[in-house]
Amino acid sequence: MMNDDDEITAASGFFEPMYAASSAAGEGLPWAYMQANGQFVEWLDGQAGGQNQRAMVTGCGLGDDAEEIARRGWDVMAFDVSESAIGLCLERFPKSPVDYRIADLFQPPDDWRGAFDLVFDNRTVQSLPYDLQPRAMASVASLVASGGTLVVVTEIVAPEHLSQHPPYRMLAESLTAYEDAGLGRQSWDEIPHRDDPPSRHARVVYSRP
Ligand SMILES: C[S@@+](CC[C@H](N)C(=O)[O-])C[C@H]1O[C@@H](n2cnc3c(N)ncnc32)[C@H](O)[C@@H]1O
Repeated sequence: MMNDDDEITAASGFFEPMYAASSAAGEGLPWAYMQANGQFVEWLDGQAGGQNQRAMVTGCGLGDDAEEIARRGWDVMAFDVSESAIGLCLERFPKSPVDYRIADLFQPPDDWRGAFDLVFDNRTVQSLPYDLQPRAMASVASLVASGGTLVVVTEIVAPEHLSQHPPYRMLAESLTAYEDAGLGRQSWDEIPHRDDPPSRHARVVYSRP
């Protein structure tokens, strides 16, 4: 039986070989759309610019979401546990103002706690096994500053469509872990995503009082 640390190492380590075998074109990475997430862009369009505001992208992959936020004037940091993913971000965006870091969501540096006015998680929590997701959500939530906002995009399924392998599509009710971590839910919007298994992409916005 694996302990939590072994499980985190295995689950997070799943991604590194895939990024290492890919390139700046993102081949072999089915989650990489090579553009910022549309539901997130739509949300950003309704916000004032991010002048003097700090944003964080968790599990940033190839960096498109982080670049989109930076383009709108935010001071952006983004991290991924995969060294090769971060290498590809730097290769794709050599002049980027984004501060890209290699880091583990389960061990964020102390000075990240409550440090970001905007945090975006685009399908990173759902890339982790179900028993790790509550801890992952608590860690994502811990980054949000007082008065700050968390935006989550994740794939939602019915209980009979939970998965034994990544992506670990989520139940709507499991997102209550963000509220357990002290955030208040502001909105929940969703669009249909897949036919098989039937799923939808939820965009959920939280704030920290
Ligand atoms: C499904 S991909 C999504 C990537 C990106 N957010 C996107 O939407 O394109 C999940 C990402 O989470 C990263 N990841 C997995 N475990 C992590 C951890 N413990 N800490 C930080 N990043 C992690 C993976 O390396 C991968 O880039």
